[in-house]
Amino acid sequence: LDNGLARTPPMGWMSWTAFYCETDCAKHPDGCINEDLYKAMADQIVIDGYNLVGYKSVHIDDCWSEMERDVNGVLVANKTRFPSGMKKLAKYMHRLGLKFGIYEDYGTKTCAGYPGSYKHEKVDAETFAAWDVDYLKLDGCNIDEDLMPIGYPLMGKELNATGRPIMYSCSWPAYLINHPEKVDYNVIGKHCNTWRNFDDINSSWKSIVSIISYYDKNQDKHIPTHGPGKWHDPDMLVIGNKGITDAMAISQFTIWCIWSAPLIMSNDLRIISENSKVILQNQEAILINQDPLGVMGRLVKNTTDIATYVKQITPSRGNKKSFAFALLNRNEAKSYRKVEISLSAIGLTDPAGYYVHDVWAHADLGLVRPGDSIIVDLEPTASVFFRADVAGIPGHAQRR
Ligand code: DGJ
Repeated sequence: LDNGLARTPPMGWMSWTAFYCETDCAKHPDGCINEDLYKAMADQIVIDGYNLVGYKSVHIDDCWSEMERDVNGVLVANKTRFPSGMKKLAKYMHRLGLKFGIYEDYGTKTCAGYPGSYKHEKVDAETFAAWDVDYLKLDGCNIDEDLMPIGYPLMGKELNATGRPIMYSCSWPAYLINHPEKVDYNVIGKHCNTWRNFDDINSSWKSIVSIISYYDKNQDKHIPTHGPGKWHDPDMLVIGNKGITDAMAISQFTIWCIWSAPLIMSNDLRIISENSKVILQNQEAILINQDPLGVMGRLVKNTTDIATYVKQITPSRGNKKSFAFALLNRNEAKSYRKVEISLSAIGLTDPAGYYVHDVWAHADLGLVRPGDSIIVDLEPTASVFFRADVAGIPGHAQRR
């Protein structure tokens, strides 16, 4: 969507996969959907410096409203869980220098049964603008799928009409998963800044791998329709959650960065491990994710377990061309300690060679010629992640 927003993939924190629709605040005072949860996460983003590496927004998900609209048909924040109201919560985020995201659904009801926006598009867009909302995630439960190509553009038009810049995330293709013939990403990209197109993630390797496989299979559709202002969203980062080891965390982060996918965490920032924090804040990886070209990396080589991806990135300091590449071991059980590859086997064939840098080890491998072999250690579920700058420009070598 050409509204000047989301020129690089959005980065932030969202509640769903960590806290779902927990509304029992008596039983779960620290983990229910209420204003304190979002304030605590916003505080933590600043305390731990997530904002300094690019995580900018805090997103409410489902289950934030009253079960009914008010007499004027306006949405109302749940009075016991959000007693200060949404405008105040937006202000809280803005004071911290963060953005505020809200959730709605295009249908008659949200997936969890709260009032949906159907036939209330205008009033809802105006309400969100009046609350100083910066981002809307519009889900797609409880609506006829044939109405999607009408409803999503309509809400986009109403958001635009408010005059407030509101980033727009659609779930339109996610609800057409069984009808790929009805999905035209060129059209969706004209109306939405980002969109979900596959199943919800959960905190498991199986779920991460199923998303990666879906994206692998559909990469020829995804790659040409992905870029500044219009991002395919493979769903939230589950790094820091129970069930996700450090190797899995590194893998999810690597692949989401290779794709230039939105980096929206869903975890409990108050209690995550130091390792998870370091992974989520790897600035070299984030630089590749946020590369201004916004290219979605491509799967270039695939064996039963090992997938290899290459992504073109903006050349650094006068190089001719730069790339990021990654190898992922999808297998959770078998051990493949050593994998051998050459740059030429993944399409990096410049005879001058490449300066290769390990993004996770923060170490230079030095000059690597296309035919040289690179040997990497790939434990089950592990990944390696490199950048490769074409060599041969005077001045470049001194840097290394
Ligand atoms: C389905 C979406 O895909 C999830 O991310 C979440 O927003 C839930 N609906 C909320 O009901």
